Amino acid sequence: MLKQILLSTKIIIMVLLSGQIHADEVKIDVPFELLELIGDVEYGEYLASDCKTCHKANGESGGIPNIHGKSMGELITALYAYREKIKPNPVMQMQAGRLSDEEIAALAAYFENLINWEE
Ligand code: HEC
Repeated sequence: MLKQILLSTKIIIMVLLSGQIHADEVKIDVPFELLELIGDVEYGEYLASDCKTCHKANGESGGIPNIHGKSMGELITALYAYREKIKPNPVMQMQAGRLSDEEIAALAAYFENLINWEE
């Protein structure tokens, strides 16, 4: 019973946080502990220098999606899914494979808040 309540709470929070999940997509069950972390934006900025070599400010380049301004829920869900190899992409699986929960939260907080990204 308690387990069921916890599970449904988790799903509701997940749906609220992630605009990207559609009913027909593979369900990505991001752990509650990860979703509730508060990301450190400055640490995220530090970590993001690697990401920005591929993810450029202006839209897609060579099939690399723009991640600027995506919601925190979308970013966390995507990074978690690559790390756990739920989402198939070798490049991003390798990138996310080294990230701790704290680092995912920090990167998501940074990219979500990135308003003027000029590089
Ligand atoms: C070597 C190039 C490269 C680097 C470095 C890189 N990415 Fe990516 N990233 C990609 C590619 C290519 C995709 C598209 C993968 C796919 O089709 O699923 C992607 C996808 C993503 C997505 C999903 C976007 C979407 O719209 O679905 C997120 C979020 C993301 N990357 C975040 C990051 C973060 C954060 C970092 C730094 C830790 C990073 N990436 C580093 C190439 C890179």
